[in-house]
Amino acid sequence: MEFFLDTANIEEIKRINRLGLVNGVTTNPTIIAKENRDFEEVIKEICSIVEGPVSAEVIGVTTNEMVKEARVIADWAPNIVVKIPMTEAGLETVNILSKEGIKTNVTLIFSVAQGLMAAKAGATYISPFVGRVDDIGEDGIELIQNLKQVLRNYQYTAKIITASVRTIGHLEKAAVAGADIATIPGTLLPKLWKHPLTDNGIQQFLEDWKRVPKRFETLL
Ligand code: E4P
Repeated sequence: MEFFLDTANIEEIKRINRLGLVNGVTTNPTIIAKENRDFEEVIKEICSIVEGPVSAEVIGVTTNEMVKEARVIADWAPNIVVKIPMTEAGLETVNILSKEGIKTNVTLIFSVAQGLMAAKAGATYISPFVGRVDDIGEDGIELIQNLKQVLRNYQYTAKIITASVRTIGHLEKAAVAGADIATIPGTLLPKLWKHPLTDNGIQQFLEDWKRVPKRFETLL
């Protein structure tokens, strides 16, 4: 499973990237707004740190607006993926861009039908929002399972990015369901490697080590 970081925070990206855990980055206008920096500048900086795909979202609403914007954004770096909203104009935009070789990530997907439409239109990635699906009393992970099955049934090449990941459970269940990618907030990802029993175990070993006879205090 690939991990994308769902953040535009450079410190978070650098910290997790040092562990070799970052396969890509996703952003959206809300995430960009948190950094209080110029959009182009921050996206270019992320692209210079992370080798994998970096999603940057268009703001336009019509096909013309989105296509124009996408062409500009796609030129910022070789690893740019343009994020397009799941609308009729968005599908037309994806269809045009896919023929130009511009990679797209169709965002705000909440149903199997929407995911299927995006894949048919030629999306490189589709982003079902598990957390927001759960928020309305439906099952976000079931959406991932069903989309995986549908893409497999018809051999679409679009990859599933599990988005709106809020919990470790979301990530674990998306992995079991076979989602290609999970995009994880920079604040959640460090929780994936933490476990209280690991911390207790280390503490116990350090205590017990004090009773071991030794010539030197440490090996270092
Ligand atoms: C990423 O592509 C999405 O924009 C993001 O995961 C949405 O997360 P949220 O529902 O927590 O805002």
